[in-house]
Amino acid sequence: MKISHQEAVERLSHSEVVAIPTETVWGLAAMVSKPEAINKIFHLKNRPLKNPLIIHIASQKELYQFLKPPYPPFLQSLIDTFWPGPLTLVLPVQEEKIDSRIRANLPTAAFRIPKFEPTRALIEETGPLVAPSANISGKPSATLLEHVERDFGQELPCFFPEVAYNADNHGVESTILIWIDSAPPTSSSRNGSWHIGRLGATSTKELEKVIQTPLQKAPTTSKKPLCPGSMFRHYAPEASLTIYENNEIFSPTTISQFDALIGFSDRDYPKTAHFFSLGPSSSIQEVLKNLYRILRLLDKHHIRSAAVDCSILKNIQENDPLWQVYFDRIHKAAHK
Ligand code: TXA
Ligand code: MG
Repeated sequence: MKISHQEAVERLSHSEVVAIPTETVWGLAAMVSKPEAINKIFHLKNRPLKNPLIIHIASQKELYQFLKPPYPPFLQSLIDTFWPGPLTLVLPVQEEKIDSRIRANLPTAAFRIPKFEPTRALIEETGPLVAPSANISGKPSATLLEHVERDFGQELPCFFPEVAYNADNHGVESTILIWIDSAPPTSSSRNGSWHIGRLGATSTKELEKVIQTPLQKAPTTSKKPLCPGSMFRHYAPEASLTIYENNEIFSPTTISQFDALIGFSDRDYPKTAHFFSLGPSSSIQEVLKNLYRILRLLDKHHIRSAAVDCSILKNIQENDPLWQVYFDRIHKAAHK
């Protein structure tokens, strides 16, 4: 159900959950000060309580009221360069200031300032909003209003400002950057490093320019991952996906085994009953914008099996680190 700015403010203030559009994916929002609404989010999404939420703020000063000084190096440069935008920062906080459900009891919390202007204007009025992606846990994230309504029903209030929304969208979630202390902080400084918790719409190359060192990816095999979300199933359609990283995707005998093929509009594939186009392989931005919509279309068409084209030449991948986001999401979507 579409609602206006004013109605969204009122409903959020009355402990309701409201879906909000952002420049990455739709979020399912509640005010940080409304524990009842925060519980509702976990319930509606069927989200494990161990998976903490991102706090969406409208300005930098809202961030600093929660943080535990001293601040990590390059924090201010990261904020100045990437906010508002698709970068989430996980930082040590004053625990008593943030509901433990939001943090999943961790001594840190995740923050970002979203770029989509009407949503920022909403947060300016309500104060900080927690918002996980607006999808049932395990399903692909929602990039369109109809995706939110499909997962949560027509009755869910969705903030729908009357301005063009999709033009500047990334189509995938924010990149998560996590500060890890390597030694107890002194009163004047913190020793440690920045780690990637989740690949996303902000390119790692751009982040490395700001923090002036190569970023480390958190080990995915660890029992206690840096980003709790990575422990759970993600982005998965009902169909089973088979990934092809080589030319076999162009073989008619291979393709005939599947109900469908997911590939790029600028390539020639063997004939198949269902071809789902991610857009041209020459534009990873375009591909990422389409990705979740295509994964969700598989379910709509009751597809049971699909081959996915992941045959991207090494030099093209290296040219743009956003290709790693494509591989990350497809591998997770294929994992049962
Ligand atoms: O683009 C996005 O980030 C979207 C839009 C709506 O802002 N939100 C989103 O939220 O993707 P969600 O809940 O689907 O993913 C948040 C991720 C989870 O993997 C969670 O584990 C991680 O952030 N996270 C949150 N707080 C954390 C913390 N304190 N430490 C480590 N990871 C944290
Ligand atoms: Mg999510």
